Formats: sequence, structure tokens, C-alpha cells
Amino acid sequence: VIVPVVLAGGSGTRLWPLSRELCPKQLLSLDGRESMFQETLRRLERLGEVGRPVVVCTEPHRFLVAEQIRALGQAADIVLEPADRDTAPAVAIAALLAGGQDDDPLLLVLPSDHQISQLDAFLAAVKTGMVPAAAGNLVTFGICPEQPETGYGYIQPGQPGDSPAPAQSADAGAEGEYFTVRRFVEKPDAATARQYLAQGYLWNSGIFLFRASVLLAEVAAHAPEISARMLEAYRGRQRERDFIRLPEEPFTAAPTLSLDRAVMEHTGKAVVVPMACGWRDIGSWSALWDGGAADAQGNVLLGRVVSRDSRNCYARSTGRLLALLGVDDLVVVETADAVLVARREQAQEVRELVRELKKRG
Ligand code: GDD
Ligand code: MG
Repeated sequence: VIVPVVLAGGSGTRLWPLSRELCPKQLLSLDGRESMFQETLRRLERLGEVGRPVVVCTEPHRFLVAEQIRALGQAADIVLEPADRDTAPAVAIAALLAGGQDDDPLLLVLPSDHQISQLDAFLAAVKTGMVPAAAGNLVTFGICPEQPETGYGYIQPGQPGDSPAPAQSADAGAEGEYFTVRRFVEKPDAATARQYLAQGYLWNSGIFLFRASVLLAEVAAHAPEISARMLEAYRGRQRERDFIRLPEEPFTAAPTLSLDRAVMEHTGKAVVVPMACGWRDIGSWSALWDGGAADAQGNVLLGRVVSRDSRNCYARSTGRLLALLGVDDLVVVETADAVLVARREQAQEVRELVRELKKRG
């Protein structure tokens, strides 16, 4: 049985002003339908034998998260973090909880800020990963990179793994392929990323598959502080219907560290399953422009927006009428109390902008 672990914390500041502390990007409905968090849970409906998902988020988002799960007709354990400590503590606590449900389940760790357009290819990759994961490896899913993106982890594949039983049907294609990981590097600088692209590295999709016990042993080996704090937090947990609350002190005392930096960069047990499933990380407004339905001028316009003599803009209005005239390559996002106007190529820097805004209060 696979227990899904859905990571739903963090605020996604690069989608400001739409994403706010009270409604981070993964809980927003970006195209007026389901949120990316809900799409993540939906993908599991076709995976077959899955256990009750463990969703990890922070306290202030608990009602929004619970409501979005209920709206899907699903149920989950919702772990409430007293504070954001990044993904290593979140995954470790989920492994402790899920490890208690079953003997030693496989955990499928799913970020909630992705879009996947080819569900079948994704499900096939997960099936492929089950073999090495059950054998005690930390399975990553690698994406063929398109540009030297600095916001991702990079994976250098090594030797092919033992191939599993021959494919049952012709359309299974290259299903079954996986490789050892020679190197895992989280968020390199641009020059290094360019080298990696030339050397055949893959992007880390941020989705992982492993046994709960294997992950816990690797966290204990490479991030003992996180391991100790999470064990304390787990022992002090309190259940209140679907919510699992963690005691503040041991949890917040843990270092803030991503699973990529805490474990994946150091472990000798990583394996990569290459995956071509139309994967996209919705990290910034330019990712939404890339994936949006553009008009003949390359503009992606959402809500009450009109444009004239403008090209390659992403413009979105949540209420007021927005008009573009004679501008190119802009991101314009209108909300009730804030408006963003930015060069599309600088969309990543919205994060720094928001940091500055927070400082000013
Ligand atoms: N529960 C919880 N607590 N979830 C968190 C926290 C936290 O403190 N911080 C982040 N998350 C969630 C986010 O909501 C997201 O769904 C997921 O964990 C990944 O966090 P991001 O902050 O979006 O990570 P990233 O995109 O910069 O990097 C990761 O994903 C890339 C691919 O999208 C890494 O795994 C990279 O190596 C990878 O390439
Ligand atoms: Mg992300």
C-alpha cells in the first residue's frame, strides 16, 4: 500500500498579490476551478491501492485545506505544523505518522504546486518507482530539463537499475527504467545549471517515493537534529478529528531545511525514474504565462482585461477592468488591494519584492 504525503505548506510569495499568507498559491484556484492542492489529491484517485493521505500544512490554513479535501469527497489526516520549517521536518513527521498506521508503507511525497498534464505517464512512473522504493531506495522522479532553471534540484543519473519484469503490454513502452543517482544538487547557480544541462542532468520534480523506515533512517543519519525534534513532536501529538496538532517547542526548534538539502544531497540511496508527463512547477507568473492559453498576440488574459497593440503579456483581473495599450512582455495582476506590474522576465524577483514589503510592514 502507498500512503500519499501531500506537502501543502509555504506561502508561494512569487505569485503575489494573488497568493497571500492566508491563501498560498497551492490553495488558490488559478483557472477558476480546483486548486493545485485539489488536483494533487485527484491524481491519486487513479493510482489504485492508496492509503489515507497525510496532508501537512500550517495552522492558519487548516480550514481551507480541510474544506478543499471535503469538497473532493475525500478524507485525510491533516498534520498542523506550528510554523514553516520547510520540507524535511514535514516529511519526517509524516513518515512517523504513516509508519504507525501500517507495517512500513511506501510514502509518495507530493508537492502541491505542480501541474501534470499526462496522468497516465505519471502513474506509470510511480509504478516503476515502487520496485526500487520497496527495495530500500529513495526514489526521485526526473524531468528532462528545458532551460538552465535555477529554482530546481538537478540529478545526475548513473547506472541503470535492475530492470523489473518485462512489460505486460506493448503500450507500456520504456516503462520500467530507472537509474542510480550519481549526484543530486539543489538549486545551483545559473552557470552551473547550464553545465548540468549539457551533461545530461535531469530536473528533480520534487516528488519522492520511499519506505517510511528508510526515509527516517536517512534523516537520522544526515539531519539528526531534525530527526530528534520530530520524534519529540510526534510523541506529543494530539488528535482532534482529522487534525493532528504538534507541540510547538520541539517542532519550532528544528532547523529550517528542505528534504533536498537535508537528505537528497547526501544520501547514497537515491534512484531516479525519468518521467515525461507534462510536468510543470507553478512557481511564478511567467510559468502561468508559459502554460496559459495565449491569444494571437501571445497574451494570456484572464478576467476583465482588454488589450490593444500589446504582445506577450500575462494580465489578470480579479475585479476591476484592466486595459493594456501598446505594452509588451509584462505581467499585470489586479486584486482588490494590490496591483502588480512587472517585466515578465523578472517574475522570479517578486519573491524579493514581497520580502521587502514585509519588512516595511
Ligand atoms: N508542510 C509544509 N511545510 N510544506 C511545505 C513547506 C513547509 O514548511 N515548505 C514548502 N512546502 C511545500 C510547498 O507547498 C510545495 O508544495 C512543496 O512543499 C515544495 O516546496 P517549494 O518551496 O515549492 O520547493 P521548490 O519548488 O523551491 O523546490 C522543490 O521542488 C522543485 C520542483 O518543483 C525541490 O524539491 C527542488 O529540488 C525541485 O526541483
Ligand atoms: Mg515548488
